[in-house]
Amino acid sequence: MIRTSICKLLDIEHPIALGGMGSATSPALVAAVSRAGGLGALGCHYQTPDQIRERTAAIRQETNKPFGLNFLLFDTREDSFAAALDLRPAVMQFAWARPDQDLKSYFGRAHGAGCKITHMAGSVQEAVRAAEAGADIIIAQGTEGGGHVGWMASMPLIPMVVDAVAPIPVLAAGGFADGRGLVAALALGADGILLGTRFLATLESPLHPNFKQAIVDSDGHDTQLSEIPDIAAGLVWPGAMTRSRRNSFIERWAGREWALRQNRAEAHQRLQAARKSGDVDEGPLSMGQDAGLIHDIVPAAEIVTRIAREAEEILRRKLPALVA
Ligand SMILES: Cc1cc2nc3c(=O)[nH]c(=O)nc-3n(C[C@H](O)[C@H](O)[C@H](O)COP(=O)(O)O)c2cc1C
Repeated sequence: MIRTSICKLLDIEHPIALGGMGSATSPALVAAVSRAGGLGALGCHYQTPDQIRERTAAIRQETNKPFGLNFLLFDTREDSFAAALDLRPAVMQFAWARPDQDLKSYFGRAHGAGCKITHMAGSVQEAVRAAEAGADIIIAQGTEGGGHVGWMASMPLIPMVVDAVAPIPVLAAGGFADGRGLVAALALGADGILLGTRFLATLESPLHPNFKQAIVDSDGHDTQLSEIPDIAAGLVWPGAMTRSRRNSFIERWAGREWALRQNRAEAHQRLQAARKSGDVDEGPLSMGQDAGLIHDIVPAAEIVTRIAREAEEILRRKLPALVA
C-alpha cells in the first residue's frame, strides 16, 4: 500500500482524490470515492444552501469517511459558503480565486470550522499565494486536465510548485488517470493525485451515458482549449480557458467568438438542451487529454483501488529492477 503525508493529513487510505467538478459530481460519486479510501469532493458551484445541506447529508448517509466541499472562489455565494462551513466537512477544496481576493479570510474561516484546506493552482505564483495564506495542501493543476485550466503543463509545473511551497504537500492534477500517473506524480515530488476526467467515466458519475461513452471513445487528441463554453454561459473566469471535447459546437464558434457573444442566449439554450439529451456533438464536454487513457466505465471504487494497485506494482517490481 502506498502511504504519503497526505494520507495521514486527510485520514485517507490512498493518495487519490476526486476533483469537485460542479454539477459533474454527485453525492453517489463522492461517497464511492471516499468509501474506497480516496478523498471524494462535491462541487458546490451554483448550489443553494439547501442543496448543499441535502447533498452533504446524502453523502454522509452513504459513508462516514472524509470528503471535501469544493468552491470556485471568484464566484462563491456567501450564503452557500456559510452553509458549507456549518456542515464542517473534513476538507474545503478551493480553486480559481480572483487576484484581488483575500484568500486568508476564506482559509481562516474554513480552518475555524475544523476543515483542512486544499487550493488548486495552475501557476507557481498562485501556489505560493495560497501557501502564504495558510493552505494545508496545494493542488498543482496542469493544462492537460479537463475543465478550467491554466497554461503550464503538469510535467514542469508540479516539481516547480513542490519546490516553491515545501514543506506543504502537493496533489498533482491534470492528465492523471492510472497507476503510472500516480507513480509519475510521486517521482515529481507530489504526495498524490487528483483526478477529474477519469471519474467522469464511472457508473456513479452523473453525466449522461453518451458523454461517458464519448470519453471512452476519445483518443485524447480531440480536446481543445477555448473560452467558448464560458462565453455561451455568460461567465468570465479569472484567467482560465476550458479544455473540452472538440465537437460541432466548439468548431462552429472557434475564431468566431464575437458572433457567439451576439447569439449567446440562443446558443446557451441549445447547449443546455444538448447536455440534457446527451447530444455529444452540440453539448460541451469538459475533459482532459487523459481521456485517451480511459477505456471503460466502471464503479468509481474500482478506479481508486486499480490505480493504487497498479502504482504499487510499478514501485515494487518494475522500478527497482531498473537499478543496477
Ligand atoms: C467537467 C469538469 C468540471 C470541473 N469543475 C471543477 C470545479 O467546479 N472546481 C474545481 O476545483 N475543479 C473543477 N474541475 C477541474 C478538476 O478539479 C481537475 O483539476 C481536473 O479535472 C484534473 O484534470 P483531469 O481531468 O485530467 O483529471 C473540473 C473538471 C472537469 C473535467
